[in-house]
Amino acid sequence: MNDQVIERAKNHFAAIVEEQMARVEKMKKAEDWIDYGKIDPVKIGFCWGDGIGPIISRETQRVLEYLLADHIKKGRLEFTTIEGLTIENRVKCMKAIPDDVLKELKACHVILKAPTTTPEKGGPYPNIESANVAMRRELDLFANVRPVKVPKEGIDWIFFRENTEGAYILGSRGIQVTEDLAIDFKVITKQGAERIIRMAFEYARNNGINSVTVVTKANVVKTTDGLFLETAERIGKEYPEITWEGWYIDIMTAKLIDPKRRTHFRVMVLPNLYGDILTDEAAEFQGGVGTAGSANIGKRYAMFEAIHGSAPRMIKEGRGEYADPSSLIRASAMMIRHIGLSDIAEQLEMALDITGQYEKKLAITGRSDGATGHEFCDYLMETVKDPQLKSRWQSFFVS
Ligand code: IPM
Ligand code: MG
Repeated sequence: MNDQVIERAKNHFAAIVEEQMARVEKMKKAEDWIDYGKIDPVKIGFCWGDGIGPIISRETQRVLEYLLADHIKKGRLEFTTIEGLTIENRVKCMKAIPDDVLKELKACHVILKAPTTTPEKGGPYPNIESANVAMRRELDLFANVRPVKVPKEGIDWIFFRENTEGAYILGSRGIQVTEDLAIDFKVITKQGAERIIRMAFEYARNNGINSVTVVTKANVVKTTDGLFLETAERIGKEYPEITWEGWYIDIMTAKLIDPKRRTHFRVMVLPNLYGDILTDEAAEFQGGVGTAGSANIGKRYAMFEAIHGSAPRMIKEGRGEYADPSSLIRASAMMIRHIGLSDIAEQLEMALDITGQYEKKLAITGRSDGATGHEFCDYLMETVKDPQLKSRWQSFFVS
């Protein structure tokens, strides 16, 4: 009996090792970065998701149609709404991403994605894989870039979270060996660590930032985090003007709330799960996860999303219209910049800062005592149109 159990576990592990070795080989054949300047039109697929997704998407679409009207009219940008990435349809197909949806995604250059429900063991839905995780893997979106800024407190962070490996890559492929024993796997590869770490160092170099913080738990999780740290050591040598420091995730989490220390951090690079957790904490300083956008970047595709979930509780309690669309709109600004329209992105970000962080004429609370997402977007669009936008924005943090 025990022999059989062990044999099954061995086979499970062997299949995983084989698959991951094949993935490494694929990564070694590094393809070139897509050049949006050479693509006409740039095709943008918009997935509206489920829960509060369709509500915040509707508002985001309104803002985007307004801001990008010229580019859409001239046929330089092409928006398609991709239906079918909803929990209902995913459950119907029993797939994290139904095949026809994946095909549509692959026909686009960039994707804007509203939240979609991630099932869990014992929840109301079958325990299928997260659509985010599947999309990051299928489109090889290896870098999860998450900026958090609170200028008046001196916070200017950008997180480079590894997005395709770590505890996530086999998160749905652990093994329940016996009723008593469950094992999950964590994967780090030299190539996977290298590409995200390099991206963080490149960002620092291109933006004149002279420090990079590498966050792991390499003192305990010795093999995988050890490789991540070792890779940072090696890559760091190529950037002599940048000093880098290794920090452990526990003390890093603590130091983010130390007002004196936290302003020294600028560029952070870290494995998947630590990045997931730390970026939620970081977003809280900026006004919560509802205010943070997130870019998932690969060489061929890129996907932009809100960092929060689909908030089914808000829908159940009839509060969907009070959901904050800022996170998806911040993600849209990142998308706009990514495809080369940085002036428009900057304008939108300034308007988001003014409306959401500084002036706050309307507060979104998520409840009926606050503004609706629609009201907020009216305010945002009025602000973005203001010819004095830049000076209005600057006035908030001139000390
Ligand atoms: C995020 C989210 C996802 C993650 C969930 C929805 C699977 O929390 O993008 O941070 O854990 O990566
Ligand atoms: Mg998260």
